[in-house]
Amino acid sequence: MKIRDLEQGKKKYPDVKFLTYKDRKRILVTGGAGFVGSHLVDRLMMEGHEVTVVDNFFTGRKRNVEHWIGHENFELLHHDIVNPLYIEVDEIYHLACPASPPNYMYNPIKTIKTSTLGTINMLGLAKRVRARVLLASTSEVYGDPEQHPQTEDYWGHVNPIGPRACYDEGKRVAETMCYAYNKQENVEVRVARIFNTFGPRMHMNDGRVVSNFILQALQNESITVYGDGTQTRSFQYVSDLVDGLMRLMASNYSLPINLGNPEEHTIMDFAQIIKNLVGGESRIVTKKPMQDDPQRRRPDITRANKYLNWEPKVPMMVGINKTIEYFRNELRRSRHSERNFHAPDYFQV
Ligand SMILES: NC(=O)c1ccc[n+]([C@@H]2O[C@H](COP(=O)([O-])OP(=O)(O)OC[C@H]3O[C@@H](n4cnc5c(N)ncnc54)[C@H](O)[C@@H]3O)[C@@H](O)[C@H]2O)c1
Repeated sequence: MKIRDLEQGKKKYPDVKFLTYKDRKRILVTGGAGFVGSHLVDRLMMEGHEVTVVDNFFTGRKRNVEHWIGHENFELLHHDIVNPLYIEVDEIYHLACPASPPNYMYNPIKTIKTSTLGTINMLGLAKRVRARVLLASTSEVYGDPEQHPQTEDYWGHVNPIGPRACYDEGKRVAETMCYAYNKQENVEVRVARIFNTFGPRMHMNDGRVVSNFILQALQNESITVYGDGTQTRSFQYVSDLVDGLMRLMASNYSLPINLGNPEEHTIMDFAQIIKNLVGGESRIVTKKPMQDDPQRRRPDITRANKYLNWEPKVPMMVGINKTIEYFRNELRRSRHSERNFHAPDYFQV
């Protein structure tokens, strides 16, 4: 049905901006079928660029970008970035990497390969075609921080052999490689240290706090808090992150930059907020703490504010309500053919 529609030119696309060849960029988004990547692709496409998504669909889904398939500015490549890639591009948003603990712990060796070999491949590509690369790094490079809030100058407190090390150390070495390529080969690099992000198109059951709590509340299951719930997190809505990533790519700033929402909540508060917003009968229960679970996490965003003129704009409740709505629709699906299409506010299809 869809292929037929494509062949007959029936498929409708959001109305993208027209850019002349001087302003239109060829942009590669690795991990573009994932949660953050697909939102970034939406914005880049709407701005009129040519976007190539590269993904191995480990945690990403074609469904996240299917609304662009067939558009003349869009291409989707099934490719694993641990293997080299030869294409012509002007900018690379390098997001490919499993991001939630159960996913990155599922095959730690593969996670390390993705962070190291994958990043080397992207930097090598950038060197060859003189593209600018933005690495999606993470607040996990700070480990279980001893400094609070975390500024970019803080070197971190990471257990190099703990269960999270494949991800944390993988991203740390990915950052190191960015600056080595920058110094030695003059590759233009941008490094975003992303703090917890949430929103529609997050995976169901990926083990992150927001998705866990919302799903448990929607299904009237117990809301599980690991530890006593006094550990804190700060959560940003995905559209704020995407805005920050695009500003960073466009900027002249090449040192690492935190992108996150400084509004801090205890995990227990958070469980309560979600329970209240969803309603229902769920009880909040505590379980034994997770190993190496950071006690406090809050970004200092002075740098992003100063160099990118960026700060998060979406109030937490607005973001959570949109995410609840998305998960509610996901839970209602009973057949593959039923769609749960999340259209950002700026889409007019
Ligand atoms: N979401 C967050 O809260 C958060 C926080 C900090 C950093 N980040 C970073 O942002 C990026 C995107 O995270 P996300 O939340 O969208 O996660 P995600 O799992 O939804 O997206 C990652 C994407 O990368 C793809 N991928 C994984 N390994 C690959 C490989 N070897 N080759 C090709 N594609 C591969 C996956 O299939 C998926 O589409 C990641 O690099 C992550 O480390 C995210």
